[in-house]
Amino acid sequence: MDRTVRVVHKTQEALGICSFELVAADNRPLPSFSAGSHIDVHLDGGLVRQYSLCNFPGERHRYQIAVLLDQNSRGGSRAMHAIEQGQTLLISGPRNHFPLAHEPRHSLLLAGGIGVTPILCMAQQLAATGASFEMHYCTRSTERTAFAERIRRSSFAGRLHLYHDEGRGQRKLALQPLLANASQESHLYVCGPTGFMDWVLGTARAAGWQEDRLHWEYFAATPVATSDDMPFEVQIASTGTLIPVAADQTVIAALAAAGISVPVSCEQGVCGTCVTGVIEGLPDHRDMYLTSEEQAAGSMFLPCCSRSKTPRLVLDL
Ligand code: FES
Repeated sequence: MDRTVRVVHKTQEALGICSFELVAADNRPLPSFSAGSHIDVHLDGGLVRQYSLCNFPGERHRYQIAVLLDQNSRGGSRAMHAIEQGQTLLISGPRNHFPLAHEPRHSLLLAGGIGVTPILCMAQQLAATGASFEMHYCTRSTERTAFAERIRRSSFAGRLHLYHDEGRGQRKLALQPLLANASQESHLYVCGPTGFMDWVLGTARAAGWQEDRLHWEYFAATPVATSDDMPFEVQIASTGTLIPVAADQTVIAALAAAGISVPVSCEQGVCGTCVTGVIEGLPDHRDMYLTSEEQAAGSMFLPCCSRSKTPRLVLDL
């Protein structure tokens, strides 16, 4: 359920990164959340953006999010940075597509830049339960490192390994040996820019990590070439209705034009809100949300971005 919250603190955490502390406008407790959860924030102009919660999971008197001002912003991060202390915002309840696994022997938490937000939340959760973990946090420079002081003052400061690409404290993460030497029972959690995620996940797979020990959350989908996109049709299984999808149209847009609404949020294949069952046909997956096994199974797809490899997809709608 959506709630109205008030921004009680807006803090510059690092160069280009602001955090926002949100409390319920009606002072009632906020829904509880687990580490790795995010909320949707509704912004002016119908924009909806997802931001990971980075305060301690279990806190219900507040949520905290942090936002990087993205130079290539599609509007969301610029709108967030323009928000002032005292303003109200409409947010969704928390949802978690990036949960901690149950009781792994050891957790490797890897954050790149603003990807620290869900990772920080996980570190607090793991530290609170006395679980075994280490946190590796890579940023461009000390000036761009959000929450460094907070982590240094935390009970898990000794588990933090900080790396910077440039400037003071320049040091690179030796990823290959870290992943190659990790125990077979470790789980890996990674969040950050697409290049960082691809590097970490690719190195883990090359080192023999199985998919069920890899956990990730992308912030943005990798751009896909669309010039060869072809029209196709979707069929609604419950009614038999056939709906054409033009070469330059998303399935979501085609469904909406036919009066069928599927819930959407990010509209770029990262949040999983629009996931829809596929009964027949072969999806052309373009999302960053489903695992490679789920994509290969072909029994669901993300209609906000994915298309079809077959002339028709029958959807479980
Ligand atoms: Fe986010 Fe489709 S709306 S994955």
